[in-house]
Amino acid sequence: MSLATVRPTLIALHRWAGLILAPVFLIVILSGAVLSFRPIVGSFAPPPAATTVDAGALAPLVARLSATAPITRLSVADGGRAIDVGSADPTVAGRWDVAGGTRAAAAPAAPIDVFGIAEQIHKQLLVGLGLVVEIAAWVMLGLVLVGPFLAWLRFRNTLMGWHTAIGWVLFPLVVLAPLSGVLMTLHVGEGGTPLPRASRTVSVAEALTIAAPKVDLSGFLEARPFRGGTVMMRTGGAAPATWVVTDADAVRLTGGPSLVKQIHEGTWGGAGAGALNLAASLALLALAVSGPWSWLARRRRDRATAIAVDTDVLVVHASQTGTATRFAEATGRALAASGEKVAVTPLGTLRPEDLQRRRIVLILVSSTGDGELPDTARAFVETLAPEALAGVRCAVFALGDRSYAHFCGGAERLRTALRVAGAEEAMPPVYADGDPTSAWQSWLGDFDVRLGLKVAIAGAPAAEPRVRLTLVERRRLDDPTKGETRETWGLTLDSDRPLTFRPGDLLRIAPEAGARERSYSIGTSSRVDPRRIVLTVALDGGLDATGQAWFGAASGWLCRRLAVGDALEARLSAHPSFNPPEDPARAIVMVGAGSGVAPFWGVAAERRAAGRAGPAWLIFGNRVEAADFLWKAHFEAALADGGLTRLDTAFSPEAGVGVRVQDRLREQGAEVRRWLVEKDAIFYVCGRRALVDGVLEALADVFVAHGGLTPAAAATEIARRVAAGSVRVDAFG
Ligand SMILES: Cc1cc2nc3c(=O)[nH]c(=O)nc-3n(C[C@H](O)[C@H](O)[C@H](O)COP(=O)(O)OP(=O)(O)OC[C@H]3O[C@@H](n4cnc5c(N)ncnc54)[C@H](O)[C@@H]3O)c2cc1C
Ligand SMILES: Cc1cc2nc3c(=O)[nH]c(=O)nc-3n(C[C@H](O)[C@H](O)[C@H](O)COP(=O)(O)O)c2cc1C
Repeated sequence: MSLATVRPTLIALHRWAGLILAPVFLIVILSGAVLSFRPIVGSFAPPPAATTVDAGALAPLVARLSATAPITRLSVADGGRAIDVGSADPTVAGRWDVAGGTRAAAAPAAPIDVFGIAEQIHKQLLVGLGLVVEIAAWVMLGLVLVGPFLAWLRFRNTLMGWHTAIGWVLFPLVVLAPLSGVLMTLHVGEGGTPLPRASRTVSVAEALTIAAPKVDLSGFLEARPFRGGTVMMRTGGAAPATWVVTDADAVRLTGGPSLVKQIHEGTWGGAGAGALNLAASLALLALAVSGPWSWLARRRRDRATAIAVDTDVLVVHASQTGTATRFAEATGRALAASGEKVAVTPLGTLRPEDLQRRRIVLILVSSTGDGELPDTARAFVETLAPEALAGVRCAVFALGDRSYAHFCGGAERLRTALRVAGAEEAMPPVYADGDPTSAWQSWLGDFDVRLGLKVAIAGAPAAEPRVRLTLVERRRLDDPTKGETRETWGLTLDSDRPLTFRPGDLLRIAPEAGARERSYSIGTSSRVDPRRIVLTVALDGGLDATGQAWFGAASGWLCRRLAVGDALEARLSAHPSFNPPEDPARAIVMVGAGSGVAPFWGVAAERRAAGRAGPAWLIFGNRVEAADFLWKAHFEAALADGGLTRLDTAFSPEAGVGVRVQDRLREQGAEVRRWLVEKDAIFYVCGRRALVDGVLEALADVFVAHGGLTPAAAATEIARRVAAGSVRVDAFG
């Protein structure tokens, strides 16, 4: 059994034990932090030993009081003239004059015993839960010991990064407190002679009598019940001593507290030892807080759209490239403007029960691939149980394009799933062909009559900016003399005014007036240069049935006909779900094949411009290394200057020959999984649909081989990640 196979289990144990015991840890650590001030302020100094008690009067007084009620604590006061008695009985408890045997004037109110209270909290949570504290010490030791096996030390400025770094770098410090605590529970290191035990429980009053022949009680300082039915007694004077009094004898304890105890309490070396204990407490506190906090933050991120319970109208979107999302947001705005309680959220982050108890659920859904649902919506549909949506009322707005074989096929799949799950359509679906604006406006126009929903103004989403660009450079990226390649070009386009865009956004280009727009992924970022867009375009083409060469309308125009210096009109379309993470420190894995590398071209530059760039791994695949390693020099330079952490390639001239990116992922599976799970990397895949689906399958295999999941659980895990956005898909066809 290798570490890789048990690691997932260890991680789960570490996480859940840490979460469950977090409150106990916090209490014990905070009280421990307070106690570590003890050696610093010197409160362990013994009380003044120059007291003299009238030994002849002490024993009878204590015997008399103890006949009324048991004494729980006894200590000298007022320079030996009085004793302070602890008892549950108020007629016994309090200060007594030793010589007169009468009550003495009440002591001035003692200052709050902060260390005493902290100790009670630290040892038994103030309410006698010593066992819970002991269990917590064992678990804390386990967590600290296991921690370094769960993630290697590689610093990231995230909560989990700090958690890992503290656990590694301060290991000797953080292990000390729980280890010494656990040893104390085992009484390890408590010295040679075992503590004497009594054959019956001795009262404090009896102890004075039993000790009298051996112990000079004129130096009496304090006594209290101790372990094993005995009484612990301390005497001062010339030779201060600690005694354990059994029913037969008073045994003098030799030696100080054990080394283990001294280490735990920080008393082995003055204030410095206390300060070290304080540092250990703070490091443990940081671990106990950063762990659960990071878990909570991740959960919140996964369910970023947790919906207000009292939302009447839920607007849900399932989108591949963002159009459905923009219209869903506009729907939300229109309803909110007329006073409806409305929330807008992606379908992928919802559970079926989130749809329940709404007046109406409005769903905007697009299609992709060959009449498929957007990737992020698939898990929701595939895991819907029969009747899971019983009682849910919904209305569907379908976005599609009649030029595809299965017009609005994705919406039809969703409608079927909704019906099977028991949901009811409150109005007939509306289908949009191409630009959805007018169909959407008429959909909203029907809300009043069909759904009883008021819509004040149906303002369409802000039009995506039309941009005018000039081709300033076009260079061939493949070399057909070195192998059979797909003709691919790098296009540099400049705008004469600044624009706003990020890698992964889309330039929508219609090759001629009225023609269908084609999308091209932008590689650059306006955060680096707001006027420069770089595209990677593969020429679509071949020979038709008559042997005539044909070229794709848009790619043919971009790669062959457009000339340097020519202008081009296009629509600039934000694609936030495929942009690099807003946090430049977040780790990313990018997988692209052929022109699928387009959106990754300028990711490193954008992250560097933002500072604190985190680890970035690019896996690129194509046909022949010597002929079509697209942008080879560009990406190798990024690797050399640290913009990329890792660059892998896979070349396969045809199916079944060479290595495909899927094979590379499986081969590097342990590392891929480590990036995804330990580094919390976001995984991006871009290219043709078949490639994207193949990569998602390979990723599931990685979780089977290296994460100990069953194939079914791994598929669910990948679907969950796609839905939650930690695996992101951009499919070209
Ligand atoms: C989100 C997204 C991002 C994209 N990003 C990029 C990118 O960065 N780079 C990139 O290169 N592509 C990208 N694409 C793909 C791009 O949008 C186009 O689909 C691609 O360039 C083909 O368009 P075209 O106009 O050249 O071909 P079309 O004219 O649309 O032809 C498409 C298909 O129709 C058939 N066809 C057309 N004419 C003939 C004919 N005469 N004889 C036989 N069959 C024919 C062929 O099967 C051909 O492949 C992206 C797609 C999407 C959805
Ligand atoms: C690669 C691709 C595949 C598509 N497949 C279909 C399809 O099978 N049926 C359809 O009606 N529309 C299809 N469409 C059109 C989209 O559904 C339509 O453009 C929609 O407005 C996109 O919305 P979105 O940006 O929210 O994903 C496809 C579009 C693309 C880019």
